[in-house]
Amino acid sequence: MKAIITTAYGSPEIFTVDKVAKPTAKPNEVLIRIHASSVTKADTMMRTGKPYVGRLMLGLTKPKNPIWGTGFAGVIEHVGSEVTQFIPGDKVFGESLDTMGTYAEFLALPENGILAKMPDNLSFEEAACMGDGGITSLNFLCNLGNIKSGQKVLINGASGSLGTAAVQIAKHFGAEVTGVCSTKNIQLVKELGADHVIDYTNNDFVSNKNTYDLIYDTVGVRSFAECKDALTESGIYASPVLGMPLMGDMMRTSMFGKKKAKFSATGALPAKETKRLLDILIDIIEAGNMKGIIDRSYPLDEIVDAHRYVEKGHKKGNVVLKPVG
Ligand SMILES: NC(=O)c1ccc[n+]([C@@H]2O[C@H](COP(=O)([O-])OP(=O)(O)OC[C@H]3O[C@@H](n4cnc5c(N)ncnc54)[C@H](OP(=O)(O)O)[C@@H]3O)[C@@H](O)[C@H]2O)c1
Repeated sequence: MKAIITTAYGSPEIFTVDKVAKPTAKPNEVLIRIHASSVTKADTMMRTGKPYVGRLMLGLTKPKNPIWGTGFAGVIEHVGSEVTQFIPGDKVFGESLDTMGTYAEFLALPENGILAKMPDNLSFEEAACMGDGGITSLNFLCNLGNIKSGQKVLINGASGSLGTAAVQIAKHFGAEVTGVCSTKNIQLVKELGADHVIDYTNNDFVSNKNTYDLIYDTVGVRSFAECKDALTESGIYASPVLGMPLMGDMMRTSMFGKKKAKFSATGALPAKETKRLLDILIDIIEAGNMKGIIDRSYPLDEIVDAHRYVEKGHKKGNVVLKPVG
């Protein structure tokens, strides 16, 4: 099969397109023909091998998994002898977090992995991106933010992968949502359901006197200290981008004060919790309250261009690779 091979950390040019053996499904596994796989901001950061601490999981001197990529959607081609929940022809989606391998034409995964049948109202492209934006934002809004109906929630970076998912999920749970984006994305964020939109190019949400129960800073460009006055009395600042200031704020606010700073590494959650979040996400999708926003699709061969585009940090929603034309 055709696959993208990664043998070192570095710039997008480290990727090579190659032919490798097609995986085979073990007795407890399914073999999936991939129709779309996600190319995420997190993928581009992992590719650089920095910060170095990430290499403890990814491989110290070079990536331990030669084929990268985690989010996928496709069709089951073959099932192992012990598989009970899936049959060939099922459309499935999910995340391959342990062994990666979705930048390829085929993927073998255990049936009890982060894998589910695709809701009928999603395309392969949309489904491939649900793990990144959807599961991560569900984790941040529900597990960290304890989101409740009627709460005021601000989503900074509302036009990215995490942000477009977060606006829709927060609306699903009945929050009053303010999305922060640039001028070109105002219409998109309104269409996703945001009650208010702030254009960050001419308005700073931390100084406009409004307060929020939850500020979800998906792009990590603000800090807890900057946002403190824009939080309600026991408001939460949560960001998926970890740096030293956020680590310090988390430690301090876990002991003192009612306002809290929070972070979580969603990819490191126990598989049981990730599956629980995937099931909730499916309910939201099937209720018609969540769609995937696709900015660009690239053929597998154009992986270098896809990574160059994603790492600029200005995509609208998601970018996918399409092994099947
Ligand atoms: N901890 C976790 O569990 C976890 C999981 C997944 C991802 N992440 C991390 O989360 C971060 C966000 O990921 P993502 O995929 O959502 O990113 P993304 O899709 O690349 O986000 C880009 C979006 O952010 C907007 N943006 C850029 N600068 C902004 C600013 N100053 N203020 C407001 N919006 C701004 C851009 O809009 P404009 O073009 O208009 O600027 C663009 O639409 C990444 O660092 C990723 O590594 C963490």
